[in-house]
Amino acid sequence: MNKPTLPYDVEAIRADFPILQQAHHDDVPLVFLDNAASSQKPNLVIDGMTNYYRTSHANVHRGIYQLSEQATQLYEDARKKVRDFIHASSHREIIYTRGTTEGINLVAMTWGRKNLGVGDVVLSTAMAHHSNIVPWQILAEEKGFMLKFVPILDNGTLDMEAYRQLLEDNSVKLVTVVHSSNVLGTINPIKEMAHLAHEQGALILIDGAQSVPHMPVNVQDLDCDFFAFSGHKMLGPTGIGILYGKRDILDDMPPYMGGGDMIARVTLEGSTWNDLPYKFEAGTPSIAPAIGLGLAVDYLSSIGMDKIHQHEQIMTEYALDRLAEVAGLTVYGPPSTQKGAVAAFTINGAHAHDVAQVLDSYGIAVRAGHHCAMPLHQLLNVNATARASFYLYNTLEEIDMLAETLEKVKDKLIF
Ligand code: ALA
Repeated sequence: MNKPTLPYDVEAIRADFPILQQAHHDDVPLVFLDNAASSQKPNLVIDGMTNYYRTSHANVHRGIYQLSEQATQLYEDARKKVRDFIHASSHREIIYTRGTTEGINLVAMTWGRKNLGVGDVVLSTAMAHHSNIVPWQILAEEKGFMLKFVPILDNGTLDMEAYRQLLEDNSVKLVTVVHSSNVLGTINPIKEMAHLAHEQGALILIDGAQSVPHMPVNVQDLDCDFFAFSGHKMLGPTGIGILYGKRDILDDMPPYMGGGDMIARVTLEGSTWNDLPYKFEAGTPSIAPAIGLGLAVDYLSSIGMDKIHQHEQIMTEYALDRLAEVAGLTVYGPPSTQKGAVAAFTINGAHAHDVAQVLDSYGIAVRAGHHCAMPLHQLLNVNATARASFYLYNTLEEIDMLAETLEKVKDKLIF
């Protein structure tokens, strides 16, 4: 198969990632295709965080001495980098969290607990990650609202006709939807969904865990009310994520956790709250991870999200073509034009876990299981899928290696 031309020099990018230089199982090169679970980190992020600990660490927002002011500056500069990266209108709309899951839980436990009750509906989707199902189930038990799900069509896209119909019943107060599915790869029409939700007076929350790392995102253009994502899937460290929210909505919400930094004044009789975003950031935050996330944003921006997205579209199309050559293999989800850089698949006669384990023995890391989307796998009528997911440092040769190794996997597993 002829190789397409990629938009940038991938080898130059790979040189920035030390983990990609090391041998796997001592003797084979690592082919890392589990980027939807977590990405690898470039030197800029690793060295920047180490350097922060070596030269600039102190608690933030608390000291009037130079070191604390320096740490505060780095921590707040990172917030502004994220603001610009997703085109929010103010740094006050950028709340640091531990990750996408915490961002969604924050909205459920503050906005949801205040605004949802008996007779209301929260509308999620059949392709939701558990983090966008379970918090709403927990809250529905407490508040008595209904949780409904937009179905998906056979081609792996959302049933937009059903979405429109579900919205017609004016009880929907919140739509909560994944931007890009971590299993099917489907990129959902968020702008249209936001417009339709707003027409019915509902708010919309986006799970952007699999979109922000891979494509340009403009929260104002999408007109979403909340947008949650994670640092570790976009070259940053674990333990840091972002919840974006429109300022007037965040202003109306009660705090999430109580403690230091989130207060204006505390007396033994009661407390008042700090301004945004600090109202939602109780306790000593993840300072070094936030700075690392800012550096990851610098790294991604230096390449350009348009180019990264273009690279991944080419990779995904090539991967789907190569995987189609493997007899007995089924890839789930829409065609590459509607899909993020994910290929979840099954092979007739082989369990996904065994497939992943044999691939690993050849140095190829993929995830196997239900990928925190059990209801979706029930709909697909499979217990588990193996999932290859690509990022800016993956090469077409790695996809060739995946397709060729899958033939060996079949020889080993299928009798
Ligand atoms: N949600 C991450 C995944 O899809 C962990 O693998």
